[in-house]
Amino acid sequence: MATMTESIRHPKVQHSECFIDGKWRPAISGKTFTTLNPATEEVICEVAEGDWADVDAAVKAARHALESGPWSRMDARDRGRCLYRLADLIESQIDELAALETLDNGKPIRESRNADLPLVIDCLRYYAGYADKIHGSTIPVRGNYFTYTRREPVGVAGQIIPWNFPMLMVAWKWGPALAAGCTIVMKPAEQTPLSCLRMAQLAKEAGIPDGVINVVPGFGPTAGASVVRHPGVDKIAFTGEHRTAQIIMRDAAETLKRLTFELGGKSPNVVLPDADLDRAARGAYIGLFLNQGQCCCAGSRVFVHKDVHTEFVGRVQELAKNRRVGDPFAPETEQGPQIDQAQFDKIMSYIEKGTQEGAECIAGGARAHDRGYFVQPTVFDRVTDDMAIAKEEIFGPVMSVLTFDDWDDLIRRANQTFYGLAAAVWTRDIAKAHDFARKVRAGTVWVNCYDVFDAAAPFGGFKMSGQGRELGEEGLKAYTESKTVTVSLDS
Ligand code: NAI
Ligand code: MG
Repeated sequence: MATMTESIRHPKVQHSECFIDGKWRPAISGKTFTTLNPATEEVICEVAEGDWADVDAAVKAARHALESGPWSRMDARDRGRCLYRLADLIESQIDELAALETLDNGKPIRESRNADLPLVIDCLRYYAGYADKIHGSTIPVRGNYFTYTRREPVGVAGQIIPWNFPMLMVAWKWGPALAAGCTIVMKPAEQTPLSCLRMAQLAKEAGIPDGVINVVPGFGPTAGASVVRHPGVDKIAFTGEHRTAQIIMRDAAETLKRLTFELGGKSPNVVLPDADLDRAARGAYIGLFLNQGQCCCAGSRVFVHKDVHTEFVGRVQELAKNRRVGDPFAPETEQGPQIDQAQFDKIMSYIEKGTQEGAECIAGGARAHDRGYFVQPTVFDRVTDDMAIAKEEIFGPVMSVLTFDDWDDLIRRANQTFYGLAAAVWTRDIAKAHDFARKVRAGTVWVNCYDVFDAAAPFGGFKMSGQGRELGEEGLKAYTESKTVTVSLDS
């Protein structure tokens, strides 16, 4: 038992180089960077720091696999089987992979093991089943012609992912791309490269041919920008900050790449007076504090009707104060550290601003523990729309509670943001729930629930929260091009 705990606490890092054309290689420059354990601030290992030269090699491998390699010749059904095998391999090593994720990212082991990894496996299986069901349509046209469409892979997909759900973002990106027959150059986040590299090795073991998946770790402005600028890449799928998406859009303009973006939010979570308050409080608590508050869809503006404000706030305050913050490898831990010093500092500065601007801090408000990037679960009451904590994405365990009275005014306030990722409403009034769902400008609306994700349900943002959708059929189509074929039937 002791040895098992040891191996889980110190999962072996097997891969830390670039994965190009099925082989592990150091960066051509020889450079490396360190990845840290955010719970201890200790170095885990050095990782190859890729840049243009490595990305160029990866793109060449991906183009070859796309155009003349075994991938383009493989039967769609066999492509699906590769994905099923990858899902099976991940499932067979779920404890080790969850531990690696917790080590590099700091998320509690109970979440990496029981939430992230099962979602990874489910997403890959969902898209595995799609691989042989991608087809166009036949279209009646004027004249003596037969017209049909084909859905073809968009080509080499450049995929740039963040650190908050490292493995899950790999699954969301690889699943539809591989099902569609694309090949991949991925740039994982510099904070969390390890689980992605491990998955690349498992993909090889699952029989995915060399060159189909390439992973180049490194930094955004070098490795990431090289993927975006490379003329051999057809599409960019990016998850991260909207400011980075703006840079990517400019960099991609030269080659007019297809772009899908999944960005941040300032999502409204609305509690009506007739709601089941226990459920609503719990939902608001999970909707904000999940994953250390590092969720693009975090319900970071909690709008509570004035009639239930006092009761509601008491409940979330209690939940926040009792949240167990600490060693992410301890099975009882509910909240681990933030990802790094920069995010920690950003969050602490927002907590300061909240107090300065006159909000009332009713839970937390300070660092937790003296080592690691831990922040106490923090709740601000009496927040108003003009405060920075009500407008800007904090990406940490900081809840803002606002009150409302009038329904139309609430809808206006909920939409008064350049973001539009998610929204939720808690009520027993079915008409109110649907009215909210119709009027709120957000890509996902939850009614009497929060953070319910499914591989089949499209996810993405309105406005500056994104472009295009991931997951479901829409997520798959984002990796295809439609080709129209017209045949003369004159003999
Ligand atoms: P980021 O958007 O800079 O990083 C995400 C990914 O983009 C990383 O792999 C990074 O290396 C890459 N990248 C950075 N600059 C690039 C460039 N010029 N070209 C190509 N790729 C580039 O986000 P960061 O700095 O990690 O976090 C900053 C803030 O962004 C957070 O505080 C949070 O508000 C937001 N964020 C939102 C996420 C989401 O899921 N929507 C995830 C991570 C961060
Ligand atoms: Mg790390």
